[in-house]
Amino acid sequence: MQILDGQLVSRATKDELKLKVAQLVTEGKKIPHLAAVLVGSNGASETYVGAKVKACGEIGFKSTLIRLEEDISENKLLSVIDDLNLDQDIDGILVQLPLPKHISDEKVINTILPSKDVDGFHPANVGKMVQGLDTFIPATPYGIMLMLEHYKIETKGKHAVVIGRSNIVGRPMSILLSQSAPYGNCTVTITHSHTKNLAEICRSADIIVAALGIPEFVKEDMVKEGAIIIDVGITRVPDASKKSGFALKGDVDFKAVSPKCSFITPVPGGVGPMTIAALMKNTFKACIDKL
Ligand SMILES: NC(=O)c1ccc[n+]([C@@H]2O[C@H](COP(=O)([O-])OP(=O)(O)OC[C@H]3O[C@@H](n4cnc5c(N)ncnc54)[C@H](OP(=O)(O)O)[C@@H]3O)[C@@H](O)[C@H]2O)c1
Repeated sequence: MQILDGQLVSRATKDELKLKVAQLVTEGKKIPHLAAVLVGSNGASETYVGAKVKACGEIGFKSTLIRLEEDISENKLLSVIDDLNLDQDIDGILVQLPLPKHISDEKVINTILPSKDVDGFHPANVGKMVQGLDTFIPATPYGIMLMLEHYKIETKGKHAVVIGRSNIVGRPMSILLSQSAPYGNCTVTITHSHTKNLAEICRSADIIVAALGIPEFVKEDMVKEGAIIIDVGITRVPDASKKSGFALKGDVDFKAVSPKCSFITPVPGGVGPMTIAALMKNTFKACIDKL
């Protein structure tokens, strides 16, 4: 069994970008600039946005964090995004999800200019991704693809089971794995909360991508010998032994499942850091595409 080390691959990806930024500086060109919008003060969202801003600093990108009150109106948020769309110095815009209930995710996503949509959630970018065209790929599935590429994991002809069909993880993941492209060419089964016989489907999988948000859902008896396991889930569970008061749990029962696998991502330290590295790559692309 080999651990797919997201920290290591993320570091390598960020180091590569750092060199590219240094090159831009030498050439007197524009440096990538990411704007992150955080509405309210959800603990997990604070952590994710903080990590994204920190990564920008490490690489040499500019970043602007815009904090807005939980009760901001939808119109006001949309006008903040309009301003960022118009700002020539801003290359990429991300609005941290989830948003408060009174704000429509869809309206917010559709307001971001597709050329600045570094999360790859705008329908124009999703459409391009589905057609295999050059675009921003949603950061989590993109990060997983980068990890498969780094470890040169052959996916061609394999049966991949994706658990979860969200627009940000499961659905784009299923599309990328099924594409006629390197690290694609899988036969993909996408599953969700209405799927029958999920355990049986999983047992036939060469690759499982677990993205449902239920801690330790994937058990040992759902996994066949030698399977490749990508654990996307991150759930905070109370843990009095931790200073923070919580521990992070993945969607896979790592202890029981890992001895059976050929490759597995840990939580934390697997898909999470890769999501950030992929977002950085998208931000760099947004800047370079304008040159
Ligand atoms: N590592 C990272 O960087 C990263 C990034 C994003 C998300 N995440 C984590 O990944 C997990 C999933 O995130 P998400 O945003 O995709 O979640 P989501 O929007 O809540 O979607 C969850 C999906 O799982 C499905 N599901 C729920 N219960 C199920 C069950 N018992 N059997 C099969 N499918 C089931 C749901 O089915 P229905 O469609 O039928 O409801 C839905 O499609 C969360 O833990 C999240 O924190 C991690």
